[in-house]
Amino acid sequence: MCGIIGILGQSAVSGRLIDALRRLEYRGYDSTGVATLDDGHLERRRAEGKLKNLEVRLRAEPLSGDAGIGHTRWATHGKPTEYNAHPHATERVAVVHNGIIENFRTLRHGLEAKGAKFASDTDSEVVAHLVHSYLLMGYSPQEAVKASLPQLRGAFALVFLFKGYRDLLIGARRGSPLAVGYGDGETYLGSDAIALAPFAQGISYLEDGDWVVLSRQRGVIRDANDAVVTREVLEPGGASFVADKANYRHFMAKEICEQPDVVGRTLAHYVDMRTERVALPIKLPFDFSNVRRVTITACGTASYAGAIAKYWFERLAHIPVDVDIASEFRYREAPLRKGDLALFISQSGETADTLAALRYAKERGAHTVSVVNVPTSTIARESETVLPTLAGPEIGVASTKAFTCQLMALAALAVAAGTERGEISVSEERKLVSALIEVPRLMGAALASEPQIEKLARYVAKARDVLYLGRGTSYPLALEGALKLKEISYIHAEGYAAGELKHGPIALIDENMPVVVIAPFDGVFEKTVSNMQEVVARGGKIILITDAKGAAESAIEPVATVLLPDMAPTFAPIVYSVPIQLLAYHAAVIMGTDVDQPRNLAKSVTVE
Ligand code: F6R
Repeated sequence: MCGIIGILGQSAVSGRLIDALRRLEYRGYDSTGVATLDDGHLERRRAEGKLKNLEVRLRAEPLSGDAGIGHTRWATHGKPTEYNAHPHATERVAVVHNGIIENFRTLRHGLEAKGAKFASDTDSEVVAHLVHSYLLMGYSPQEAVKASLPQLRGAFALVFLFKGYRDLLIGARRGSPLAVGYGDGETYLGSDAIALAPFAQGISYLEDGDWVVLSRQRGVIRDANDAVVTREVLEPGGASFVADKANYRHFMAKEICEQPDVVGRTLAHYVDMRTERVALPIKLPFDFSNVRRVTITACGTASYAGAIAKYWFERLAHIPVDVDIASEFRYREAPLRKGDLALFISQSGETADTLAALRYAKERGAHTVSVVNVPTSTIARESETVLPTLAGPEIGVASTKAFTCQLMALAALAVAAGTERGEISVSEERKLVSALIEVPRLMGAALASEPQIEKLARYVAKARDVLYLGRGTSYPLALEGALKLKEISYIHAEGYAAGELKHGPIALIDENMPVVVIAPFDGVFEKTVSNMQEVVARGGKIILITDAKGAAESAIEPVATVLLPDMAPTFAPIVYSVPIQLLAYHAAVIMGTDVDQPRNLAKSVTVE
């Protein structure tokens, strides 16, 4: 999603605005722009496409000025062209915006009727004209912003720069995150800590409804009721992070390879290695014995982590589990009751639909637990209980290490639930935990399949469509495999429950259709073999991902077998994620796509 930066500096800021925008590239974007106060006047440079286009622009037409704002835009309203790129500006005010202004049409008509001339198709430009209309009436910048904010419907983070005010930035947050950074005689605003990383010595996160008036010396934050408030100044933890690919060609490759480490780190946070028992990082404010049902809500890859966890909760703890994607859950009036457990999963902790679902669950008195990778995120801050994943910053737009860390945290939680409900004995718990302890090592072994998968990817990259099949926990993993392939390689792919094949999708099978079958040798393996036979009988080409026993028992001739180490099948999806991710990654590299920032996608989806 859009990225925002604002700097009140001690020296020219345009270079640092670009540095900050580079750090925000991971969020996904399709145009960029900056504005500075050049000799008191607002000057803008904007460019379609990647940041390097803006850099070329700035080399040709440099910007001076020690106060400025910058933006990476992920198009919602209006094409990703230069004229739609932010900052949007009038003669007196420039603004960058993340989110959606839902009532922009009404506002725009009203402003046009009063003579405002719009230069873009965006919803965001209306904010500049609205504030400008108050400046024309003699309002100060603060008064103009204060008068404008209540008129905006929708979700936004906004940063304003004003002609003639070199010591002023105004930021506002409703729905989309915004952080204030404090430096040495400088102040900053940014859509996340990563943007502020190289500059800020302290960071405060604005709460929903807050707005801030910033000078180089101080920030005055007001809440939604306009009362001056203080927001804790935190060490810029994420700020020490450097977006560094090390020796990898892409962040995604690095993040896939990091998994044994970060999943191991997450594991160590959730289990006691010595006693081989679950030790959650925080005491839950409820007893699983009293939980009637669990509702898991998330989007995309995170929702597939939830779908896998459903099998674990039901099998290990015998709790009924509903899994829903947040965009549906939030509007379907799910009958949650006081004391139910609502579980949310999110890497960014900012996904608008997941956040709305969380708020819905809170209103209904459910216990809210979130599995989140960014501890300072809105979802983390608004949840009753936070279960962190320790994946570290995930930069590749396609989620990999966050997904497997989510699985690790959820696996530990499901085991804890099973023990607390008396569904598994302490010795069973120890067995399960010792299987979890094996997972990071097994993921390391799974990474050794990369050379073989790279070759298979050449075959997959020739296909127009690819099918992924699995049963049990391999079914949601098949959905994840298909999502991963399509989002980064742009090859059409679908995931299906293997048993569902004959109810429709089997019509697609022919000799041109690669079928990736995820089948560890588990309780449903034989059933999956029957489904593979149905595929082979129709000329389909199977890539089988299994273990030695599975390979020996499959009795079919796949195009290729990717052999993974033997393991306890319960937690196999965490390990089987690795070849699935590698296949998508290498297919994308062969297709020559922008692997880390695939077209049309954003990392943190802060609009619904
Ligand atoms: C796909 C992917 C997305 C996210 C989804 C939710 O690779 O990354 O499907 O999983 O947008 O994002 P978070 O987890 O940040 O809520």
